[in-house]
Amino acid sequence: MAYSFQVTTYDEYKEAYKKSIEHPEQFWEEIAATFTWKKKWNKVLEWNFAEPDVQWFAGGKLNITENCIDRHLPGRGDSPAIIWEPNNPGEASRIITYNELHRQVCLFAQVLKNNGVSKGDRVCIYMGMIPELAIAMLACARIGAIHSVIFGGFSAQSISDRLQDANAEYIVTCDGAFRGAKDIPLKNIIDDALVSCPFVKRVIVCERTDTPVSMIKGRDVWWQDEILKVQQQGSPDVPAEEMDSEDPLFILYTSGSTGKPKGVVHSIAGYMIHTTYSFVNVFQYQPGDVHFCTADVGWITGHSYILYGVLCAGGTSLMFEGIPTWPDAGRFWEIVQKHQVNVLYTAPTAIRSLMSFGTAPLEGKDLSSLKVLGSVGEPINEEAWHWYNEHIGNKRCPIVDTWWQTETGGILISTLAGVTPMKPSFATLPLPGVQPVLVDENGKELEGNDISGNLCIRFPWPSVIRTTYGDHERCRTAYFATYPNLYFTGDGAYRDEQGLYRITGRVDDVLNVSGHRIGTAEVENAINSHTGVLESAIVGFPHDLKGQGIYAYVILDEPKHDAEQTRKDILQTVTRIIGAIAKPDKIQFVTGLPKTRSGKIMRRILRKIAEGELEQLGDTSTLLDPAIVDEIKEGRL
Ligand code: PRX
Repeated sequence: MAYSFQVTTYDEYKEAYKKSIEHPEQFWEEIAATFTWKKKWNKVLEWNFAEPDVQWFAGGKLNITENCIDRHLPGRGDSPAIIWEPNNPGEASRIITYNELHRQVCLFAQVLKNNGVSKGDRVCIYMGMIPELAIAMLACARIGAIHSVIFGGFSAQSISDRLQDANAEYIVTCDGAFRGAKDIPLKNIIDDALVSCPFVKRVIVCERTDTPVSMIKGRDVWWQDEILKVQQQGSPDVPAEEMDSEDPLFILYTSGSTGKPKGVVHSIAGYMIHTTYSFVNVFQYQPGDVHFCTADVGWITGHSYILYGVLCAGGTSLMFEGIPTWPDAGRFWEIVQKHQVNVLYTAPTAIRSLMSFGTAPLEGKDLSSLKVLGSVGEPINEEAWHWYNEHIGNKRCPIVDTWWQTETGGILISTLAGVTPMKPSFATLPLPGVQPVLVDENGKELEGNDISGNLCIRFPWPSVIRTTYGDHERCRTAYFATYPNLYFTGDGAYRDEQGLYRITGRVDDVLNVSGHRIGTAEVENAINSHTGVLESAIVGFPHDLKGQGIYAYVILDEPKHDAEQTRKDILQTVTRIIGAIAKPDKIQFVTGLPKTRSGKIMRRILRKIAEGELEQLGDTSTLLDPAIVDEIKEGRL
């Protein structure tokens, strides 16, 4: 399968870009025509950012699983769709061909139906990185149910909040998940979450770790038993439900600048088209290549570039259950050699962490199959970029620094490997169809090059967020109200003399810790729920491995003698309420916070102190209590 929409030279890129701006509808329509539809669309695009209301290919009928699976069966049925590498080194890998994936997805789709799931129902998936996770998502899509995957690192409380927000009555989970030396008791965590979610009707539990679990009669069933029941009735060919282009495909929760995570909703056709188009073009994917995206499927990167984009392109996706440093820091390189990986797509955090082990773990590893390297999730610092280039790519693999977000569904700004220019720490140029704009604080567009501003996007691309589940107004205010007629990313960016973009980081109260998005308000709420805490403020600070670390300033109700114990209690509270990923790296106890006379916390000052820029705090004279700044400076950790 060659891709008619693959651009392979810089000139072709320029031509495609020009066409995508001048004739966007024609541009995307030609790409859409390469997919499988049950009924053609009536209108390519209708949009209005004020509402927002964006509809791509309205009136079209399709099912994404026919595009991910069925259409590949005639020619590529025996080709590997998913290569699975287990966490535990002694265990055998699994290769799932397109034929096998079709069989498994149909079986599980029937299991979902037998357990009462129908079109439009929300199904929460909380599993480790095993093929059954991909199968569960695709089975939902097959029958038109809306999946909402929750990353295995989130706590019971976080799961409960998300289940309630999505009103998800069905859950697919595992007994446990292997991650490095750990065995995370997923089902037990689900049980804790369900104490406050009596509306959940069914929990389907896939056996993976043999962790002891309690199965509640009438609510909990085993995945493997349910599959057997279906097989006993003969293997089904569950027909793909006819879906509208704009029907929701999934909800994925992500943090914003306010307390509650948002359920980002993506619709079927636009998401399918953009993820496939970007996958093929950014990575310059060739049929037969092995694509190894190291993200967890619980994040958008896994949704788009382990699953949907790769499979829609008929590609081979390598899915790894474990972590880069277990049983040792050579694990990724061993996998690359073992499975002859062609594209490696990972996060700067992972690169920095592996860099810290030096080059010894690379010795004896044959990385010559690699053709393209990718980076995602946070700005990649030059040192990590060069290490990746020299030691992993052997200076012969283009590096694509891909900028995008949960809300954008797919990559928006990136080098196209070997086709468009690359520059260390620059995401570089927009993909065809993407119109970045830099604006100042007042929303005035900043023209010209060598300029910095807030990054916005002018025109809808197919996989733009459609709504935030159950609260459309929140979607409008968070992304479409700051600057009229623009989608606001929440990121700052610099455009250099050549017009290449460098993402400089968030300009709102969202942190990026190890490539994971964490809302400061969420962490503050969690800390404040601890009985001994009066108030807290969270800021980010530069962290060698994580990119950004979490710095907490905490005012205690009654300053205790045992600060160490209180610190541990606070960490425990955050872990329980959000998950270990949100634990502060530093907790400084303070007696007050720098506030304006109207009571607003001056985070700018707290940020500077956390960063160690003690002399550049700016004007502090307007503070309610300027003396507090000296106290905080002295107590800095
Ligand atoms: O700040 C940007 C950063 O990650 C944010 C999006 O986070 P999330 O929705 O979790 O999605 C991560 C995976 C796509 C962005 O607002 N970010 C993502 N990619 C890059 C990046 N920052 C700099 N360079 C990137 N390549």
